[in-house]
Amino acid sequence: MGEPKSKGIKKRPSSRLGGILDGYDPAKLVIATACSHSSLQIFHGARAEGIKTLGIAVGNEPKFYSAFPRARPDEFIVVDSWNEIPKLAGELRKRNAVIVPHGSFVEYLGATEFLKLNVPSFGNRKVLEWEADREKQRDWLRSAGVWVPKRFKPGEAIDRPVLVKFHGAKGGRGYFIAKNQDEFMEMEDRVQGKAVQIQEYILGTRYYLHFFHSPIKKDGYELSRGSLELLGMDRRDEANIDEMYKLGAQELLKKSGVLPTFVVTGNVPVVIRESLLPKVFDIGERVVERSYELFGGMTGPFCLETLVSDDLHITVFELSARIVAGTNVFISGSPYADFVEPGLSTGRRIAQEIKMARRMGRLPEILT
Ligand SMILES: Nc1ncnc2c1ncn2[C@@H]1O[C@H](COP(=O)(O)OP(=O)(O)O)[C@@H](O)[C@H]1O
Ligand SMILES: [Mg+2]
Repeated sequence: MGEPKSKGIKKRPSSRLGGILDGYDPAKLVIATACSHSSLQIFHGARAEGIKTLGIAVGNEPKFYSAFPRARPDEFIVVDSWNEIPKLAGELRKRNAVIVPHGSFVEYLGATEFLKLNVPSFGNRKVLEWEADREKQRDWLRSAGVWVPKRFKPGEAIDRPVLVKFHGAKGGRGYFIAKNQDEFMEMEDRVQGKAVQIQEYILGTRYYLHFFHSPIKKDGYELSRGSLELLGMDRRDEANIDEMYKLGAQELLKKSGVLPTFVVTGNVPVVIRESLLPKVFDIGERVVERSYELFGGMTGPFCLETLVSDDLHITVFELSARIVAGTNVFISGSPYADFVEPGLSTGRRIAQEIKMARRMGRLPEILT
């Protein structure tokens, strides 16, 4: 496995908000996000905290929200395509909007446009630069001192099972497993001319850890700045890999041209052995502390995608620096969030953070 590296240079946190917040009425903040992904949870959480909400939708007001009155945004803005979001910036600012970005929001808008979007956004947008590039993400994790899967350089001998990941692939499409050098060579034409990462395939159980880092809340599990909360854990249902066994061994399936894919189709709640919680918090803490040294800190919700092997080693294979859709299984609390506050969801925790920062006059520390 890729061994942790030692720590490096320090950088100071900074905000790109400039004077935008000066024109805002803090009493009238509105939480806005794209109508997809975890928006029901975000709107539901904001409503529970008494914050108004605004849903950005494409084409028309999505009808299904009317089926969920407690999670329906107070207002909608409808655009013809996601590409139009940058044009909404002025309108959003006029409405005192704070964007709560989720995975689909960033994907639809594109990382570059999201970085430029001149509307206050929950969390530190600088994280994108470190998150979007698999190599940089790996450097961040390793230099934080957490275990990551071994990575094979092009041409390096494949001495164990590997997972080949394509850069920018959505939902694991096209990823393939090769159990040895020969199998890798058989599949090599799929890799030609493409940017890939060849990772050690870790035979373990997957835990997607949902954390929340507040730079302003001091009580609880303290960090050098603020605190760290664990709000839940899920495992993703991935088609077709998770169900392949029903048709027989992968070897045989391969001969019939059926290859495993990792497309997320849903989520299931999980808990981890309680004896592993110290490790879980240690990993979360390291990743946050290192983020301050690298780019001024990853704040708000984030998810570490991990594999636990039979020697109880935890390896982090991916990081998402915002609310993940796996938190949707915990709308009314989780076996961890309930120890913080009964019924707490990540969406609601976001709204609480915004309210807390507003009360303390510290909004620039949680928005960029
Ligand atoms: N090193 C690994 N060993 C075993 N399985 C892995 C490894 N990395 C990823 N996976 C599996 O592949 C899926 C997709 O990989 P991931 O790196 O999360 O890419 P994506 O960007 O598509 O989410 C994961 O959810 C997990 O099931
Ligand atoms: Mg992933």
